[in-house]
Amino acid sequence: MAIEFRDVTKYFGKKRVLENVSFTVEKGEVVGYVGLNGAGKTTTIRIGVGVLRPSSGDVLVEGYSVVREKRRASMHIGWVPEYPIFEQDFKALDYFVYLAGYYGISGGEARRLGRRLLEEVGLGDALDKKLAEYSQGMKKRFALAVSMINEPENYFFDEVLNGLDPQGIAFFRDLVLRLKRKGCAILFSSHILSEVENLADRVVFIHRGRIVAVHTMDEIKGMAKPALRIKVGRIDEGLMETLKSLGEPERKGRIIVLRNPSRSPDEILRILVEKGYPVEAMAPVEPSLEEVFFRIIGERR
Ligand SMILES: Nc1ncnc2c1ncn2[C@@H]1O[C@H](COP(=O)(O)OP(=O)(O)O)[C@@H](O)[C@H]1O
Ligand SMILES: [Mg+2]
Repeated sequence: MAIEFRDVTKYFGKKRVLENVSFTVEKGEVVGYVGLNGAGKTTTIRIGVGVLRPSSGDVLVEGYSVVREKRRASMHIGWVPEYPIFEQDFKALDYFVYLAGYYGISGGEARRLGRRLLEEVGLGDALDKKLAEYSQGMKKRFALAVSMINEPENYFFDEVLNGLDPQGIAFFRDLVLRLKRKGCAILFSSHILSEVENLADRVVFIHRGRIVAVHTMDEIKGMAKPALRIKVGRIDEGLMETLKSLGEPERKGRIIVLRNPSRSPDEILRILVEKGYPVEAMAPVEPSLEEVFFRIIGERR
């Protein structure tokens, strides 16, 4: 496997922020790393790329320990931090060339590579712009280009979709699929499950520093149950009993949400009206991934 987190635990002072985090990302696999703000995603990724040391445990990238063989591991890692920080005074291409120097690429070769990668991320028109004039989305794109300097096979993207416009999101999706086809391993974090929906093969859920579930995207979609919103003029025991025979009713004030209905909406309407209940409105609820997310981490919104 390409990336392997092994029992990673991290303390900040006395506070335990990660507890025995273990999971893998295979070659050619895209894994979403999903959890609420503060769950520990950024800390995990910073440990994974070797800029932060775990209190215990290890991460292997291409079999190299990021703790004991950091330099070797780094050669195989591309990283886009949550908040990329660059020298604002540089022009984009010049700064790229400067950064390429760290990877032993210099001069004309570095400029050629910079042109190609910056064009690839859609910054071809902004090569000579100062980074200070770059928008948030452009900075993300720049960071993506930088993460590809050494053509690594393993990528860590931290909340990379955050702050991107729809065009930027579409672009990121294409890029990830291209890397995936090349056999790269990609881990990308998000605090929004639906954000990883069209991209992740698997999702690792982290909650309060612990991995609470790992599911394929197909499994997750299967967990998003269909539901009906029903507004009835009179709600009583009898109605709830009837609805329990037709699905999983949950009362929300004057509305009832019926999950996993066993009959069609037409049939449910007929049954309720026949029993004398004044049905005022009935409409399907789009199955929500966020609802699944909160169910998985076991918390209410
Ligand atoms: N350098 C640090 N020192 C102390 N606490 C930190 C530090 N970095 C992160 N934390 C804490 O660790 C927890 C996890 O943070 P983080 O990994 O950034 O979560 P996420 O990326 O999922 O939002 C939070 O409670 C955060 O406040
Ligand atoms: Mg974070």
